[in-house]
Amino acid sequence: MPHVLIACSASVAAIKIPAIISELTKKNIRTTLVVSEQSKHFIDIEKIKKDYQIDVFTDQDEWNTWNGRGDPVLHIELSKNADLLVLAPLSANTMAKINSGICDNLLTCIVRAWNVSKPVLFCPAMNTQMWNHPITKVQVDKLVSWGYCQIPPIVKTLMCGDHGVGAMAEVETIVTQILKELNLSNF
Ligand SMILES: Cc1cc2nc3c(=O)[nH]c(=O)nc-3n(C[C@H](O)[C@H](O)[C@H](O)COP(=O)(O)O)c2cc1C
Repeated sequence: MPHVLIACSASVAAIKIPAIISELTKKNIRTTLVVSEQSKHFIDIEKIKKDYQIDVFTDQDEWNTWNGRGDPVLHIELSKNADLLVLAPLSANTMAKINSGICDNLLTCIVRAWNVSKPVLFCPAMNTQMWNHPITKVQVDKLVSWGYCQIPPIVKTLMCGDHGVGAMAEVETIVTQILKELNLSNF
């Protein structure tokens, strides 16, 4: 069974995570979720665990599972065990950290340890003004240069009331791209 690791950072688009997991579950794809601390404001991880019977990991788990030499290191295990990493949603903050190799939480440690010969999809999601800042293109281009596949944001009226580009791609678009990367498009 293919194994997809979803790395969720703190965009309001994190509210779409249950829908992504639901679609992947229907396709018999194993899903594991890693969340940044701030993203926990947008999703109910206990409900996700209960509804979909999947593992959900937070920064605290990184340290709870390691007590001394010989114990597994969670970010290394997670980066080795999954077939595909999807950064959804990808906040401006986490995108900037990944760009410069910062790894100060479970999510960014996984990205830093990920073998780039395995697929990485990223789904930026941010306010239009943030998206339009010149640094965004620089950072997106750098991730693409590493072989990461961008699923671009779309135009919408955002939660803050602004209308423009910046909303996370539709769940269907993201799931379709995951299936394609896993060569499961025909299922
Ligand atoms: C209500 C609210 C909504 C936010 N939505 C976004 C967003 O869509 N995209 C984004 O990049 N940052 C957004 N932010 C800011 C991030 O949550 C903030 O930069 C945070 O530190 C990111 O943490 P992380 O990258 O570790 O997950 C939002 C903040 C708040 C309070």
